[in-house]
Amino acid sequence: MTAQDMDKKDRLQEIFNEVSSWITPALERAFPEDLYDDITVKAAMYSLMAGGKRIRPAMMYMTAKMIRLDDDQLAVVRRFAQALELIHTYSLIHDDLPAMDNDDLRRGKPTCHKVYGEGIAVLAGDALMNRAYEILFALALKDQANTYPAYNIARLAGVLGMIGGQSIDIASEDKKISLDLLYELQKKKTGALIECAITTPYYIAGDKDDPVSLSLRRLAAHLGLMFQIKDDILDVTSSAEVLGKNCGKDERDDKATFVTLLGLDGAKSRLSEEYNGAIDVLADLAREGYDTSDYQALVDYLYVREN
Ligand code: IPE
Ligand code: IPE
Ligand code: MG
Ligand code: MG
Ligand code: MG
Repeated sequence: MTAQDMDKKDRLQEIFNEVSSWITPALERAFPEDLYDDITVKAAMYSLMAGGKRIRPAMMYMTAKMIRLDDDQLAVVRRFAQALELIHTYSLIHDDLPAMDNDDLRRGKPTCHKVYGEGIAVLAGDALMNRAYEILFALALKDQANTYPAYNIARLAGVLGMIGGQSIDIASEDKKISLDLLYELQKKKTGALIECAITTPYYIAGDKDDPVSLSLRRLAAHLGLMFQIKDDILDVTSSAEVLGKNCGKDERDDKATFVTLLGLDGAKSRLSEEYNGAIDVLADLAREGYDTSDYQALVDYLYVREN
């Protein structure tokens, strides 16, 4: 590892530590205090605080820093990050249910339904989603500038995005699907929330149709694919101890993934393609005068991440 690689790794660790210092307490306070005795809230909090890389809040923070948002705007970004992490966690609780992927390990712990039962796990996911929308509406009520990014999260978390991807994922089990459909599946199920993370800070402050906005969406498309292709790879190359979730489940469920469609080497070469695409977008942003060093470190991490 070169000294430059080491600097990037240290910088990334610093960012994750910084993000953890505000996202952890924000998630701990996700629900009003008087609701914490409710069993559905307990189940939701169990999954929310079980760990997780908090990569989406980290991406929001990176964009916010890169476009130099002020402290007031950063406080708003932190609230959006809280809402997005609630939506992400709800998607994981439902993804693990017997009716979907039927998994019993998540974030290094038994899945929500294993501890609380299926009915409460369904409600815990629903509660996290609804709480997220309460937060988004509150943000929109407070400031008109928050309305579009809030609407955009609702849009991309839905059938047009994450849920739509999950829908294709489930419908594709035991089927040989085309590469085009696989790209659509992955862009939606994982890319959509990553696009929210990367673009939300810009939408708070800037024009959603300007060239920088477009570059951020291009960056998000590459990082979303990198993230899910790597997830598919780790499912065959990693272990439950390292990953905090069981491995080999894509083959077990005859899922459509980059590995099941193209083999491990094929998946790795698609990962490299997306890596190069991301580097190109960062070069464009650097030419526009943005400091892209944090994102450079993130792209490297997404390429080599082990969990
Ligand atoms: C897992 O997401 C589901 C996918 C979209 C691949 P993460 O890998 O971000 O899960 P946590 O939040 O770290 O547990
Ligand atoms: C799930 O994809 C993505 C979500 C929208 C939750 P996977 O089913 O591959 O995620 P893991 O491997 O269970 O984390
Ligand atoms: Mg799944
Ligand atoms: Mg799954
Ligand atoms: Mg997976």
